[in-house]
Amino acid sequence: MPAQRVAVADEEGSPDAILIRRTMSEIGPVADKVASYFYALLFVRRPDLRVLFPPAMDMQRDRLLKALLTAAEHLDNTPVLVDYLQNLGRGHRKYGTRAEDYPAVGECLIGSLSKYAAAVWDPETEAAWVRAYTTISQVMIDSAAADALRSPAWWHAEVVTHDLRTPDVAILTVRPDQPYPFLAGQYTSIETPWWPRVWRHYSFASAPRSDGLLTFHVKAVPAGWVSNALVHRARPGDVIRLGPPTGSMTVDHTTDSGLLCLGGGTGIAPIKALVEDVAEHGARRPVEVFYGARTDHDLYEIDTMLRLQQSHSWLSVRAIIDQQARLQLPEALRDYGPWNEYDAYLSGPPGMIRSGVDMLRGFGIPSSRIRHDAVEELLVVGN
Ligand SMILES: Cc1cc2nc3c(=O)[nH]c(=O)nc-3n(C[C@H](O)[C@H](O)[C@H](O)COP(=O)(O)OP(=O)(O)OC[C@H]3O[C@@H](n4cnc5c(N)ncnc54)[C@H](O)[C@@H]3O)c2cc1C
Ligand code: HEM
Repeated sequence: MPAQRVAVADEEGSPDAILIRRTMSEIGPVADKVASYFYALLFVRRPDLRVLFPPAMDMQRDRLLKALLTAAEHLDNTPVLVDYLQNLGRGHRKYGTRAEDYPAVGECLIGSLSKYAAAVWDPETEAAWVRAYTTISQVMIDSAAADALRSPAWWHAEVVTHDLRTPDVAILTVRPDQPYPFLAGQYTSIETPWWPRVWRHYSFASAPRSDGLLTFHVKAVPAGWVSNALVHRARPGDVIRLGPPTGSMTVDHTTDSGLLCLGGGTGIAPIKALVEDVAEHGARRPVEVFYGARTDHDLYEIDTMLRLQQSHSWLSVRAIIDQQARLQLPEALRDYGPWNEYDAYLSGPPGMIRSGVDMLRGFGIPSSRIRHDAVEELLVVGN
């Protein structure tokens, strides 16, 4: 689904949404304390649930509670929210979450909110939160149950090849133990054997292949747990775990509009998958790829992209090399436009996506035709 921004004025919406937003403004300044208290409460009441979570909880502290609060806040935006929650529920199967665990999380949420939003907390507010949590958790539970009928909770996958392309970027090919259906442009979660229960997202770098193998491009980030394990430790024969495929940065094959693709760093991985997908569908729609990196050296996949360009007359690949690609890219886009008839696809570091979206809007591409993934933000739902 294309990115959509949900704008809600403070006193608009259902009575429950208004009460929920009041709680949110109250806890805003002490969000960290609410998160710590929430997990402390959860693990004191349900110590058995601690093993589902990673040993270090810094990232998680933020994400579970943030998602819950944001989902509650946007309760009135049903279709967008339901889509997000269904994905989330499906994704929770790999953590070992069971339907019967949801009430405990809800009780601890309400316990934490009532403590830190005491000034505005009353029985009506509590009832609004109970209704919101029940709705949210039911969507997640139902979606996990439906998914269990057709898919495993996770896949094991054996590393088949490991190619260190630069000192910190590796291309890995893995063989899943069961068929793994996905669409070009999507991403998955990976857990390595060295950091159990620590999952990170990686994009598929190829469209689905007839041999069932999957490819990933991974850049080791300084002190990064999973990326360093995949780049510097993983070797053929190692077995990783994969979560389900997700993401909405996929090609709409019902139209033949052109594709404008901006890929920065390893963000070129899903862009390459999209190009392969267009090629396989045989449609001769224009695809314009701008591949950005800080130095020549970081354009580790330029040869592959140029080979694709040679084989397909509808494809153009342009490299943007600059420490300040943000300045060069707008100029290049201006030179090669107009883009108002194109669908846009962005993939790369969050800063690049944010500035890229603004830039593309400035070139007349409506938000509904700009696709990208940034799971951290529920406000840009569908990612
Ligand atoms: C939808 C999506 C798709 C993604 N696809 C890919 C992909 O195809 N290839 C790929 O390599 N990565 C991809 N990522 C990023 C990936 O999920 C991890 O965030 C990244 O590998 C770092 O994980 P880590 O466990 O190594 O680092 P962590 O242990 O999570 O982080 C360690 C430290 O590094 C910092 N850090 C995190 N990311 C970066 C970064 N990019 N640059 C500099 N510092 C950073 C953190 O803030 C932290 O301080 C994707 C992310 C998303 C949301
Ligand atoms: C409505 C309820 C819930 C919401 C909105 C929610 C939301 C989230 C979000 C957004 C994440 C971040 C990673 C991801 O996207 O998968 C997450 C991770 C996680 N959640 Fe939930 N969650 C809910 C209920 C539960 C329950 C009931 C459990 C089981 C005890 C649980 C266990 C976990 C675990 C183990 C992780 C992984 C931690 C990590 O990777 O750091 N969640 N949750």
